[in-house]
Amino acid sequence: MNIIILGAPGSGKGTQAAMISRKHELAHISTGDLLREAVAEGTELGKQVESILRSGKLVSDEVVLQLIREATSKSTKGNRRGWILDGYPRTVAQAESLETVLEEIGQKVDSVIVLDVNPDVIVERLSNRRTCESCKAVYNLLNNPPRYEGKCDICGHALIQREDDKANTIRKRLDVYNDRTRPIIHFYDGRYRIHRIDGTQPIDEVSAAIARLVSE
Ligand code: AP5
Repeated sequence: MNIIILGAPGSGKGTQAAMISRKHELAHISTGDLLREAVAEGTELGKQVESILRSGKLVSDEVVLQLIREATSKSTKGNRRGWILDGYPRTVAQAESLETVLEEIGQKVDSVIVLDVNPDVIVERLSNRRTCESCKAVYNLLNNPPRYEGKCDICGHALIQREDDKANTIRKRLDVYNDRTRPIIHFYDGRYRIHRIDGTQPIDEVSAAIARLVSE
Protein backbone atom coordinates (compact mmCIF):
# COMPACT_ATOMS: atom_id res chain seq x y z
CA MET A 1 0.00 0.00 0.00
CA ASN A 2 1.45 3.37 -1.03
CA ILE A 3 0.00 6.54 0.49
CA ILE A 4 0.65 10.27 0.08
CA ILE A 5 -0.36 12.49 2.99
CA LEU A 6 -0.81 16.18 2.17
CA GLY A 7 -1.65 19.16 4.34
CA ALA A 8 -0.32 22.47 5.60
CA PRO A 9 2.58 22.64 8.07
CA GLY A 10 1.25 21.45 11.44
CA SER A 11 -1.82 19.76 9.99
CA GLY A 12 -0.67 16.50 11.60
CA LYS A 13 0.98 14.73 8.64
CA GLY A 14 3.97 13.50 10.64
CA THR A 15 1.85 12.39 13.61
CA GLN A 16 -0.57 10.44 11.42
CA ALA A 17 2.10 9.05 9.07
CA ALA A 18 3.98 7.60 12.06
CA MET A 19 0.78 5.92 13.33
CA ILE A 20 -0.23 4.54 9.92
CA SER A 21 3.28 3.29 9.15
CA ARG A 22 3.41 1.34 12.44
CA LYS A 23 -0.06 -0.11 11.95
CA HIS A 24 0.34 -1.15 8.30
CA GLU A 25 4.12 -1.85 8.34
CA LEU A 26 4.81 0.91 5.82
CA ALA A 27 8.04 2.86 5.45
CA HIS A 28 7.47 6.41 6.72
CA ILE A 29 9.31 8.66 4.29
CA SER A 30 9.46 12.24 5.55
CA THR A 31 11.53 14.59 3.40
CA GLY A 32 11.58 17.09 6.29
CA ASP A 33 13.10 14.47 8.63
CA LEU A 34 15.62 13.38 5.98
CA LEU A 35 16.71 17.00 5.44
CA ARG A 36 16.91 17.76 9.19
CA GLU A 37 18.95 14.57 9.68
CA ALA A 38 21.42 15.77 7.02
CA VAL A 39 21.71 19.12 8.83
CA ALA A 40 22.24 17.43 12.23
CA GLU A 41 24.93 15.14 10.75
CA GLY A 42 26.66 18.10 9.07
CA THR A 43 26.77 16.39 5.64
CA GLU A 44 27.39 18.35 2.40
CA LEU A 45 23.64 18.25 1.75
CA GLY A 46 22.96 19.41 5.31
CA LYS A 47 25.24 22.45 4.90
CA GLN A 48 23.55 23.28 1.60
CA VAL A 49 19.99 23.21 3.01
CA GLU A 50 20.36 24.45 6.61
CA SER A 51 19.51 28.11 5.99
CA ILE A 52 16.66 27.21 3.62
CA LEU A 53 14.97 25.07 6.27
CA ARG A 54 15.40 27.83 8.87
CA SER A 55 13.75 30.37 6.54
CA GLY A 56 10.70 28.19 5.79
CA LYS A 57 11.38 28.21 2.03
CA LEU A 58 11.53 25.09 -0.10
CA VAL A 59 14.66 23.11 -0.89
CA SER A 60 15.19 22.63 -4.65
CA ASP A 61 13.13 19.99 -6.44
CA GLU A 62 16.32 18.21 -7.68
CA VAL A 63 17.70 17.76 -4.15
CA VAL A 64 14.52 16.26 -2.71
CA LEU A 65 13.93 14.10 -5.78
CA GLN A 66 17.26 12.37 -5.13
CA LEU A 67 16.20 11.68 -1.52
CA ILE A 68 12.87 10.27 -2.70
CA ARG A 69 14.45 8.02 -5.34
CA GLU A 70 16.66 6.44 -2.69
CA ALA A 71 13.94 6.16 -0.05
CA THR A 72 11.20 4.68 -2.26
CA SER A 73 13.48 2.03 -3.75
CA LYS A 74 14.81 1.09 -0.26
CA SER A 75 11.23 0.81 1.03
CA THR A 76 10.60 -2.46 -0.84
CA LYS A 77 13.49 -4.11 1.06
CA GLY A 78 12.93 -5.80 4.45
CA ASN A 79 9.36 -6.52 5.50
CA ARG A 80 7.78 -3.16 4.60
CA ARG A 81 4.51 -3.43 2.74
CA GLY A 82 4.77 -0.06 0.98
CA TRP A 83 5.33 3.55 1.99
CA ILE A 84 3.69 6.69 3.22
CA LEU A 85 5.11 9.95 1.85
CA ASP A 86 5.01 12.84 4.33
CA GLY A 87 6.12 16.25 3.01
CA TYR A 88 6.55 15.08 -0.59
CA PRO A 89 5.46 16.11 -3.15
CA ARG A 90 5.40 19.80 -2.28
CA THR A 91 5.20 21.38 -5.73
CA VAL A 92 3.40 20.35 -8.91
CA ALA A 93 6.85 19.77 -10.49
CA GLN A 94 7.66 17.33 -7.66
CA ALA A 95 4.32 15.56 -8.19
CA GLU A 96 5.18 15.17 -11.89
CA SER A 97 8.67 13.82 -11.08
CA LEU A 98 7.17 11.37 -8.62
CA GLU A 99 4.94 9.95 -11.36
CA THR A 100 8.06 9.33 -13.48
CA VAL A 101 10.07 7.75 -10.63
CA LEU A 102 7.20 5.43 -9.70
CA GLU A 103 6.79 4.35 -13.30
CA GLU A 104 10.54 3.60 -13.49
CA ILE A 105 10.46 1.42 -10.37
CA GLY A 106 7.07 -0.17 -11.11
CA GLN A 107 5.19 1.28 -8.13
CA LYS A 108 1.95 3.25 -7.85
CA VAL A 109 0.05 5.52 -5.47
CA ASP A 110 -2.99 3.87 -3.80
CA SER A 111 -4.36 6.76 -1.72
CA VAL A 112 -3.96 10.50 -1.34
CA ILE A 113 -5.01 11.85 2.05
CA VAL A 114 -5.45 15.59 2.65
CA LEU A 115 -5.63 16.91 6.24
CA ASP A 116 -7.63 20.15 6.45
CA VAL A 117 -6.76 22.48 9.37
CA ASN A 118 -7.24 26.24 9.58
CA PRO A 119 -4.26 28.64 9.99
CA ASP A 120 -5.02 29.78 13.57
CA VAL A 121 -5.01 26.21 14.84
CA ILE A 122 -1.76 25.60 12.95
CA VAL A 123 0.09 28.53 14.53
CA GLU A 124 -1.00 27.40 18.01
CA ARG A 125 -0.01 23.78 17.34
CA LEU A 126 3.40 24.54 15.89
CA SER A 127 4.33 27.05 18.61
CA ASN A 128 3.70 24.27 21.14
CA ARG A 129 5.27 21.39 19.23
CA ARG A 130 8.28 19.64 20.75
CA THR A 131 10.24 16.89 18.99
CA CYS A 132 12.57 14.25 20.40
CA GLU A 133 16.12 15.03 19.28
CA SER A 134 16.84 11.32 19.01
CA CYS A 135 13.82 9.21 17.90
CA LYS A 136 11.88 12.19 16.38
CA ALA A 137 8.66 11.43 18.32
CA VAL A 138 6.36 14.46 18.22
CA TYR A 139 4.58 16.01 21.24
CA ASN A 140 2.46 19.05 21.91
CA LEU A 141 2.66 21.02 25.15
CA LEU A 142 -1.07 21.78 25.01
CA ASN A 143 -2.74 18.59 23.89
CA ASN A 144 -0.18 15.79 23.73
CA PRO A 145 2.47 16.52 26.38
CA PRO A 146 5.27 14.12 27.40
CA ARG A 147 4.88 12.37 30.78
CA TYR A 148 8.01 14.14 32.14
CA GLU A 149 8.70 17.73 31.10
CA GLY A 150 11.34 18.04 28.38
CA LYS A 151 11.88 14.25 28.04
CA CYS A 152 10.75 11.81 25.37
CA ASP A 153 8.34 9.11 26.67
CA ILE A 154 9.77 6.59 24.22
CA CYS A 155 13.56 6.95 24.49
CA GLY A 156 14.12 9.46 27.33
CA HIS A 157 16.16 11.90 25.17
CA ALA A 158 15.64 15.68 25.30
CA LEU A 159 12.74 17.36 23.50
CA ILE A 160 13.60 20.34 21.33
CA GLN A 161 11.73 23.08 19.46
CA ARG A 162 12.29 23.09 15.70
CA GLU A 163 14.11 26.14 14.32
CA ASP A 164 11.27 26.75 11.83
CA ASP A 165 8.55 26.71 14.52
CA LYS A 166 8.92 30.44 15.31
CA ALA A 167 5.80 32.57 14.62
CA ASN A 168 7.22 34.50 11.60
CA THR A 169 8.59 31.40 9.93
CA ILE A 170 5.32 29.53 10.50
CA ARG A 171 3.46 32.30 8.58
CA LYS A 172 6.03 32.09 5.78
CA ARG A 173 5.62 28.28 5.59
CA LEU A 174 1.84 28.70 5.37
CA ASP A 175 2.25 31.11 2.44
CA VAL A 176 4.58 28.66 0.71
CA TYR A 177 2.01 25.90 1.27
CA ASN A 178 -0.82 27.94 -0.24
CA ASP A 179 1.22 29.10 -3.26
CA ARG A 180 3.28 26.04 -4.10
CA THR A 181 1.79 22.93 -2.45
CA ARG A 182 -1.99 23.35 -2.43
CA PRO A 183 -2.17 23.21 -6.29
CA ILE A 184 -1.04 19.57 -6.06
CA ILE A 185 -4.55 18.65 -4.85
CA HIS A 186 -5.89 19.87 -8.20
CA PHE A 187 -3.10 17.96 -10.03
CA TYR A 188 -4.17 14.71 -8.30
CA ASP A 189 -7.90 15.32 -8.76
CA GLY A 190 -9.16 12.75 -11.27
CA ARG A 191 -5.82 10.90 -11.24
CA TYR A 192 -6.21 9.36 -7.76
CA ARG A 193 -8.96 9.19 -5.17
CA ILE A 194 -8.45 12.07 -2.78
CA HIS A 195 -9.61 11.59 0.81
CA ARG A 196 -10.14 14.88 2.65
CA ILE A 197 -10.15 14.61 6.43
CA ASP A 198 -10.96 17.21 9.06
CA GLY A 199 -7.55 17.44 10.75
CA THR A 200 -8.87 19.56 13.63
CA GLN A 201 -10.39 16.48 15.26
CA PRO A 202 -8.44 14.86 18.12
CA ILE A 203 -5.42 12.78 16.99
CA ASP A 204 -7.15 9.40 17.58
CA GLU A 205 -10.25 10.45 15.64
CA VAL A 206 -8.17 11.60 12.65
CA SER A 207 -6.32 8.32 12.83
CA ALA A 208 -9.58 6.30 12.96
CA ALA A 209 -10.91 8.22 9.93
CA ILE A 210 -7.71 7.43 7.99
CA ALA A 211 -7.84 3.76 9.05
CA ARG A 212 -11.39 3.48 7.70
CA LEU A 213 -10.34 4.99 4.37
CA VAL A 214 -7.22 2.92 3.82
CA SER A 215 -9.04 -0.33 4.60
CA GLU A 216 -11.85 0.44 2.11
P1 AP5 B 1 8.44 19.25 7.04
O1 AP5 B 1 9.19 18.65 8.14
O2 AP5 B 1 7.79 18.38 6.04
O3 AP5 B 1 7.41 20.27 7.70
P2 AP5 B 1 5.91 20.68 7.32
O4 AP5 B 1 5.31 20.14 6.09
O5 AP5 B 1 5.94 22.14 7.45
O6 AP5 B 1 5.07 19.92 8.36
P3 AP5 B 1 5.33 19.84 9.86
O7 AP5 B 1 6.33 18.76 10.16
O8 AP5 B 1 5.61 21.19 10.45
O9 AP5 B 1 3.87 19.47 10.40
P4 AP5 B 1 3.04 18.13 10.33
O10 AP5 B 1 1.92 18.31 9.38
O11 AP5 B 1 3.92 16.92 10.14
O12 AP5 B 1 2.43 18.16 11.79
P5 AP5 B 1 2.80 17.29 13.10
O13 AP5 B 1 2.27 15.91 12.97
O14 AP5 B 1 4.23 17.44 13.47
O15 AP5 B 1 9.37 20.27 6.21
C1 AP5 B 1 10.22 21.19 6.85
C2 AP5 B 1 11.02 21.97 5.82
O16 AP5 B 1 11.83 21.06 5.04
C3 AP5 B 1 10.20 22.74 4.76
O17 AP5 B 1 9.80 24.00 5.23
C4 AP5 B 1 11.21 22.82 3.60
O18 AP5 B 1 12.18 23.80 3.82
C5 AP5 B 1 11.91 21.46 3.66
N1 AP5 B 1 11.23 20.43 2.84
C6 AP5 B 1 10.63 19.30 3.31
N2 AP5 B 1 10.12 18.58 2.30
C7 AP5 B 1 10.40 19.28 1.15
C8 AP5 B 1 10.11 19.07 -0.22
N3 AP5 B 1 9.42 18.00 -0.63
N4 AP5 B 1 10.53 20.00 -1.11
C9 AP5 B 1 11.22 21.08 -0.72
N5 AP5 B 1 11.53 21.35 0.58
C10 AP5 B 1 11.11 20.45 1.51
O19 AP5 B 1 1.87 18.05 14.18
C11 AP5 B 1 2.14 19.40 14.56
C12 AP5 B 1 1.80 19.58 16.04
O20 AP5 B 1 0.38 19.42 16.22
C13 AP5 B 1 2.45 18.55 16.99
O21 AP5 B 1 2.77 19.17 18.20
C14 AP5 B 1 1.35 17.47 17.20
O22 AP5 B 1 1.46 16.81 18.46
C15 AP5 B 1 0.09 18.33 17.09
N6 AP5 B 1 -1.04 17.61 16.50
C16 AP5 B 1 -1.01 16.78 15.42
N7 AP5 B 1 -2.25 16.33 15.13
C17 AP5 B 1 -3.09 16.92 16.03
C18 AP5 B 1 -4.50 16.88 16.24
N8 AP5 B 1 -5.30 16.12 15.47
N9 AP5 B 1 -5.03 17.59 17.25
C19 AP5 B 1 -4.22 18.37 18.05
N10 AP5 B 1 -2.87 18.45 17.90
C20 AP5 B 1 -2.32 17.73 16.90
